Amino acid sequence: MDFAKLANPQILRIKPYVPGRLIEEDILKLASNENLLGPPESVVRALCEHATMVNYYPDSDCQEVRQALADHWGITPEEIIMGNGAVEHIYNVCTAFISPGEKVMFPWPSFAIFHIAATIQDAHLEMVPLTPDFQFDFDLLIQRYREFSPKLIFLNNPNNPTGSWFSEQELVRLLEAVDPEHTLIFLDEAYVQFVDAADFPDSLKLRREFPNLVILRTFAKIYGLAGLRIGALIGPPQFIDLINRVRDPFNVNRLAQVALLAALKDEAYYQKSRELVIRDRNYLMQKFDERGIRYVPTQTNFLFFDSGVDGEELFRRMMEEEKITMRPMTGYGLPSWFRASVPSDLAQCDRFLEALERQRTRLIEEGLAVG
Ligand SMILES: Cc1ncc(COP(=O)(O)O)c(C=O)c1O
Repeated sequence: MDFAKLANPQILRIKPYVPGRLIEEDILKLASNENLLGPPESVVRALCEHATMVNYYPDSDCQEVRQALADHWGITPEEIIMGNGAVEHIYNVCTAFISPGEKVMFPWPSFAIFHIAATIQDAHLEMVPLTPDFQFDFDLLIQRYREFSPKLIFLNNPNNPTGSWFSEQELVRLLEAVDPEHTLIFLDEAYVQFVDAADFPDSLKLRREFPNLVILRTFAKIYGLAGLRIGALIGPPQFIDLINRVRDPFNVNRLAQVALLAALKDEAYYQKSRELVIRDRNYLMQKFDERGIRYVPTQTNFLFFDSGVDGEELFRRMMEEEKITMRPMTGYGLPSWFRASVPSDLAQCDRFLEALERQRTRLIEEGLAVG
């Protein structure tokens, strides 16, 4: 039989999300924007203490976690809903708000899950290109908003995969242009804790003025909890109530809740995570400048760059000969571009830089330079 004939037709248009490789010995894994410090020790201890409780279902409403986050952010628990990773909320907002044919707009390249979640709902997609140097184009976004009148706008700041970001002034321009009665602005801030740009938006402040602004946060990155899957969505209580109706019960597992409660108390780990990423991304950008490698200045824990050579061959050699994985950007139509995590370790930065230089030089000598 042919299951494709039975499936909803829009599902056939989805290209499955491609995850990075799983961890293997000796591999420097720079493909998935993970925290390469390892999890906080305080979290590992808390997990061991609670391991004997996994025969019980978790708190479906994540009450303790939501209270801790509410205190942390200076808001109320009714303004927070927890998810099995931040991505769950991207699907849930589409399920709750988007019917077939309704319009969803987002800049592109951006987070692949925006595209997948909106397509599952058979939404009408408007993908607004970034500028040729991969910056946000708010003139174009506002123009397309006016022409297209979307019900939902996804924004990712700073942006995966490019690392570029937009300022508070730019965001306010869009928020002021948008009709809050008809359009929801979903701001994914998965990498916000790594930002040191002074003009970056204070979204928690802006949401008080713009109730159609909802904010996504993950604990996978700076808190080092990617493998446990926990993320938060922040919005007005009525919005949160609607998302609550479509989520899975018990969506956030018991150990993820325990881990987050421990991680939120571990200020030392948080600061170390942040400082090492900022130090290492500045180091990598400086070295790329010295070597003339084109990249996009980043505010995240990853760097988006043009290898200037045949990407497929570079990817293969980095993997097989150097034991380093990076994320190819072929899916975005950028075959010589890659995204690589910032290692949080200068020796690993050098390992990456030396391997990249060795393989690029060889490929250029073999006539495989592009662009
Ligand atoms: C922009 C963006 N949003 C959300 C996520 C997902 O976070 P989580 O691992 O909590 O689902 C990621 C992870 O890579 C991301 O890059």
